[in-house]
Amino acid sequence: MSEVGSEKALRARLEELPRTIWWEAASSGDRPAVCLIDQTRLPFREDVRRCHTLEDVEGAIQSLALRGAPVLGVAAALALALWSENESGETDVDAWLVGLDIAAARIAQVRPTAVNLAWGAERMRAFAHTLDGVLDERKAAILDFALRLVDEDEAVNRALGAKGAELLKPQARVLTHCNTGSLATVFFGTALGVVYSAYDQGRVSQVWVCETRPLNQGGRLTTWELMRAGIPCTLIADDAAASLMAAGEVDAVLVGADRICANGDAANKIGTLALAIAANHYHVPFYVCAPLSTFDATLKDGSQIPIERRASSELQGFGASGVVVPDSRLIATVLSAVTGKGKRSFKLKEGHRASIERVTGGYAFDTWLRTTPQKTRVYNPAFDVTPASLISSFVTETGVYAPHELESV
Ligand code: MRU
Repeated sequence: MSEVGSEKALRARLEELPRTIWWEAASSGDRPAVCLIDQTRLPFREDVRRCHTLEDVEGAIQSLALRGAPVLGVAAALALALWSENESGETDVDAWLVGLDIAAARIAQVRPTAVNLAWGAERMRAFAHTLDGVLDERKAAILDFALRLVDEDEAVNRALGAKGAELLKPQARVLTHCNTGSLATVFFGTALGVVYSAYDQGRVSQVWVCETRPLNQGGRLTTWELMRAGIPCTLIADDAAASLMAAGEVDAVLVGADRICANGDAANKIGTLALAIAANHYHVPFYVCAPLSTFDATLKDGSQIPIERRASSELQGFGASGVVVPDSRLIATVLSAVTGKGKRSFKLKEGHRASIERVTGGYAFDTWLRTTPQKTRVYNPAFDVTPASLISSFVTETGVYAPHELESV
């Protein structure tokens, strides 16, 4: 472990973080599954969601139970292996290949902005078309290929983290947006991967975490992850970032990306553009940290990136999940009666929603509470595009590049 600066370097407690997605082989009576940590329920519930079909994985991605560009690429690959194992039902190689192509096209378009989804689907599809042998051998080969992408993701992130850490001065105070951590990848993370590497070298003293409205990936996920890993962090409202930079409290901004065009324009979570403008104004370095799978050389510039528009409900209110552990016999009796026939949903006045169900150790609830007048009109783009001119460098697994060097990448 190298040490930078006078303070003794600490180690991020990465063993405290779960893996985000994994393959579960068939077991007695159960089919193979793609398992994932349901991120809609973090930080208070660490539910594992088991997907048995392509549609299950599509649903997990659409609902953001699984999110973050790099892990979406791996999920696409695993989803195709899952389809092949559990649903293809084909006995003929040609029909299997046609089915796989259709499944790949389906999974690639579940969310339009992160190019990694299409990247993972295309890598699987292309690999399947190179194979020889009988159907069972080909099925085994594509599963093996998908599992290799799982391992590759972590290795890529660790390499990227090490390259990015070198950019930071000792005891840097960094600011980050959305969640680019272990949860956005199979393990380790991109921009937060840089933080994990840098922290171990004494190069990070503090992480400012933007809340990231409307779905609060910063407030719910990044804080949870950093605190588990034992890294000092402070949550801020998105609107506080510029004033922190003005006060000289930010040494670098580290963000991820969902798609980077040939000219270096980069799409990332909504709010990233405002951070880049503020960082440039206050001469704070602005680093985009992303694996090569996020680069899309087929798009000339950011105007060609499709931007996902999401549901109005994300801005009209907020959701929260948790677990109630009854603290009296009366409460226990009431909750037991309410949930006796399984999950119980309530439709409340003003459109608020709540549901509760019995789980091991208590009663798990999900709520959505309206905070705006009924029928409030909403414009809710999930991403924005930061022009290359506002980006200091791109941090990748192969090195750090200025925007004008991207052509060589
Ligand atoms: O809508 P999300 O939560 O999937 O958006 C995620 C982001 O914008 C991340 O910053 C990006 O995917 C990079 S993750 C390493």
